Amino acid sequence: MKLGIIIGSVRKERVSDRVAKWVANEAQNLEDTEVVMIDLIDYKMPFFDEAVSPQYNPKRQIDPEAKKFVDAIAPLDAVVIVTPEYNRSYSAVLKNALDYLDFQLSKKPVQLVAHGSTGGAQAVSHLRAVLPGLGAITNPTAVMITDRVGNIISEEGE
Ligand SMILES: Cc1cc2nc3c(=O)[nH]c(=O)nc-3n(C[C@H](O)[C@H](O)[C@H](O)COP(=O)(O)O)c2cc1C
Repeated sequence: MKLGIIIGSVRKERVSDRVAKWVANEAQNLEDTEVVMIDLIDYKMPFFDEAVSPQYNPKRQIDPEAKKFVDAIAPLDAVVIVTPEYNRSYSAVLKNALDYLDFQLSKKPVQLVAHGSTGGAQAVSHLRAVLPGLGAITNPTAVMITDRVGNIISEEGE
């Protein structure tokens, strides 16, 4: 299985990368699993501005940087999304990235891992509303971290 872990924060001093490393460390216990880290900081996508919704546009002209992201999602069998909660939702950079997808998440399981002072509960709730639009299937059980991540997970994800 090819498991992708999306880091949903590009903020300076972010902690989502620690959470993602923790998930990756845990995933190493899974048999026959290749873990791929997909850090949104590595994909400098512009704000989505295509003329037609990607799912209805087989001839789309996609931004080259966004294509890199889309091509990274396509071969995955399953995805973990690590998301912070900003102002009662998930991050704008994550929404922008998701809007570039057409069918790359279709019929694929997605595990949500959220963090924030309320455990990222509203980020999870909003992602559960959005991801079915991309055909993804979210695990009903999300991981929600209410502790300050910097206090409980090291930079190495321990
Ligand atoms: C602009 C901003 C808004 C935030 N709003 C919320 C919020 O509405 N609910 C919440 O639980 N946490 C909120 N937080 C806390 C973050 O979710 C929390 O610190 C998270 O671990 C940050 O992840 P990051 O460092 O990877 O960006 C907010 C943080 C920032 C920077």
